[in-house]
Amino acid sequence: MSRAAVLTGIGAMVPDRMVDNDEISTLVDTNDQWIRTRTGIERRYWADPGVSTGDLAVEAGRRALESAGVDSVDLVVMATSTPDQPMPATAPRVATDLGLGNIPGYDLSAACAGFIYGLHSATGAIASGSCERVLVIGADIWSTRLDPEDRATAIIFGDGAGAAVLRAGDPEEPGAFAGFDLGSDGAHKDLAVLPAGGSRQRSRGEPLREADNYLAMRGKEIFTHAVDRMAGSSTALLERIGWHTSDLDWFVGHQANARILNTVADVMHADRERVLLHLDRVGNTSAASIPLALTDAAADGRLQPGHRVLLTSFGGGLSWGSTALLWPDVAALAPAPRT
Ligand code: COA
Repeated sequence: MSRAAVLTGIGAMVPDRMVDNDEISTLVDTNDQWIRTRTGIERRYWADPGVSTGDLAVEAGRRALESAGVDSVDLVVMATSTPDQPMPATAPRVATDLGLGNIPGYDLSAACAGFIYGLHSATGAIASGSCERVLVIGADIWSTRLDPEDRATAIIFGDGAGAAVLRAGDPEEPGAFAGFDLGSDGAHKDLAVLPAGGSRQRSRGEPLREADNYLAMRGKEIFTHAVDRMAGSSTALLERIGWHTSDLDWFVGHQANARILNTVADVMHADRERVLLHLDRVGNTSAASIPLALTDAAADGRLQPGHRVLLTSFGGGLSWGSTALLWPDVAALAPAPRT
């Protein structure tokens, strides 16, 4: 019998400070009605000064360990594009703060697709026999990287962290990841980019431009690629594992824009009622978006043990990835206030 990676705990959190659409419209030229109708977002949470991505990750990780009922893992995989600093990685500090001892920990950068990439890495570590349990965290703070002049990014992004504990188990049991479909396309690397801090920007030999510190995004083009890649990857995965779109109880896509998710569902001939939405309350939380959405839906009972769940994600890189599982019986705490 082959070894599978099985989801056994989940947890997520957002920072305290809620920023609604009316507050965003005091910062850039926009309004609540436009943001709701064009994105589906009503509010998001931004970290206070002094709070880092690692701080959020520690809390999400603690909740996931509690949900799994364990206090040790063999590896921490931390998906983020906004680490505490470029070097060292944030994962070792997260492992230490969680009291996990001198286990390996590393960061993984795949933008908004990072959490699915993290699940893939953890699954490989478990399948190879080198790990029994792995903590996978997706966390990002983009609020400090938003161009004050750019209404496209200001309206979308929120901060947050989500985590899952995976354990070795049986491929047939609920929670076992049924397979993965991952991909990337560097030809479109400039569609979403944060230039500052990398070797390309430093080796230019020119002074840092203010704009290099901010996330630049070509929203319309990203929209089209996001639909194509999430639909294509989801379809490829379903074919590979022998599931049909009509089998799905929940379609959990990266929470960037409700119109993107509904269009993906339409392309796949999936019922829009099966699209899990969480972005209305937290915005696009990048690598945290999938575990935040899952934790929220598990906490409020939308996700039930035995449900067939497809996860699919897309982000800068370009990077995308999908996986699927039968939802297990896991405890979850709501990551954000409901009202
Ligand atoms: N508030 C008010 N009006 C706005 C606006 C805002 N925040 N942003 C754009 N507009 C205006 C534009 O000026 C334009 O007006 P015009 O028709 O008079 O020229 C109109 O609204 C449409 O603009 P457009 O850029 O075509 O909007 P859009 O429907 O593409 O929505 C995004 C913009 C950013 C919300 C959308 O493209 C998107 O979600 N893209 C994907 C982003 C993403 O997923 N990022 C995460 C991965 S990096």
